[in-house]
Amino acid sequence: KLNDYDVSPKTGFLPEELPVKRLPEYYNSWENTVEILSHLLLTKRIRLIIDNFPLLNTSQLKTEGQWRRAYSILGFLSHAYIWGIDLPLNKLPIQLAEPWIEISNHLRLPPIATYAGLCLWNYQEILPLDLNYNYKDDEEFLNNLRTINTYTGSIDESWFYLVSVYFEYRCAPCIVTGLNAIKYAREDKPDKVIECLKELAENIDYLGSILMKMEEMCDPHVFFFKLRPYLAGWKNMENAGLPSGVFYGNEKEPRILSGGSNAQSSSIQTLDLLLNVDHTATGESGKNSNNNSKANPFMSEMRSYMPGKHADFLEHLSKVNIIRDYVMKNSTKNKELVLAYDASVAMLKIFRDKHIRIVTRYIVIQAQKEHNMGSEGVQKNTLRAGLAKSENKDNVLRGTGGTALIPFLKQCRDETGNTAAGSW
Ligand code: HEM
Ligand code: ALA
Repeated sequence: KLNDYDVSPKTGFLPEELPVKRLPEYYNSWENTVEILSHLLLTKRIRLIIDNFPLLNTSQLKTEGQWRRAYSILGFLSHAYIWGIDLPLNKLPIQLAEPWIEISNHLRLPPIATYAGLCLWNYQEILPLDLNYNYKDDEEFLNNLRTINTYTGSIDESWFYLVSVYFEYRCAPCIVTGLNAIKYAREDKPDKVIECLKELAENIDYLGSILMKMEEMCDPHVFFFKLRPYLAGWKNMENAGLPSGVFYGNEKEPRILSGGSNAQSSSIQTLDLLLNVDHTATGESGKNSNNNSKANPFMSEMRSYMPGKHADFLEHLSKVNIIRDYVMKNSTKNKELVLAYDASVAMLKIFRDKHIRIVTRYIVIQAQKEHNMGSEGVQKNTLRAGLAKSENKDNVLRGTGGTALIPFLKQCRDETGNTAAGSW
């Protein structure tokens, strides 16, 4: 069943087989270029090289793994093309645009660098220890990971993606436990539901510590000034020099798309659904009566930036997630059930608190530094790195996904806290 959605009990939303690391020879122009991407960016020759690409088609892509690899490469190349030299361009050449659109349609993803292309399908083992992910412990899995491609060639960038890969891996047990909890709730076995919820709380707690691993090897300065400019998309990027999206090949209308963001992780939205954390609030549906909250369509919008089958999984989960109802129905007679449920919610809220601390260190403080440097000291590409802050017409610091950062993230956190069933 999970398999139908490309979800694995072992690896969650990561593919069960390691991502393909190289396409067939026909695609050598793409592979050879992405392999030396950081050098071409350094010497500002990326556009020149891509402009001379042959126009390739998708006929030589035989396996899903190859389609994914192609999607991932074209994301790297296209963002490098748009953002890679001093001023961004608002047009992608047909050699990138045409195959990218076709490949994106196949995977039901938008043609933009997403979390899927950057993280889910962009890792390999360092040593081929065990192709079935049978590691003696989870840290061993992380310690044996490397990225396939990066923009900058830095270990900081690799770590930024790999922490997410590890995060996804460690979400797999949460998916299994959460689905078991739903099953036991259906069978009205409260003790079993409690057991699952306790396990879930412990696992979510661990996800919070994974997040904090970011600080071990990813330097906030490198992240903000060197990597982040390439992760940006073409939505809400007015002041980064792209006021109205990007034209793909000969298309008449520009496409306006959000850049890569962990908000596109299906794992987190799975946890939200399992615990019935509602991010739509008074949003599109208007179903919810919580009038204190502002509409938050970004989170549901991000589902269209996930691989099609993963979005289908979330859609399905949203129809069967009865855990909170079950807890509420039994809340007066079963305090332990309420406690176990609230412990999971609390852990998810704490995760979001930690995330806000990370965002403060990696973005807000760096943007402040940049601001203090003044326009004199600012290098050209750091203008983009700020993804436009104080000079913005709306005076708002933006995430690569295009949100207003801290207010948005605080709202997500508060919506999590508000879900508690009553023990705090
Ligand atoms: C959203 C920054 C690492 C999970 C966001 C947003 C920003 C951000 C700015 C707002 C959306 C946008 O406009 O892009 C960062 C930074 C990180 C980092 C600077 C590290 C240096 C992570 C990691 C995870 C994660 C490792 C876990 C997989 C999320 C989630 C959201 C989000 C789930 C959606 C909002 C929510 O559900 O609360 N992040 N992020 N982030 N990030 Fe991160
Ligand atoms: N979404 C993250 C940012 O805004 C990557 O920098």
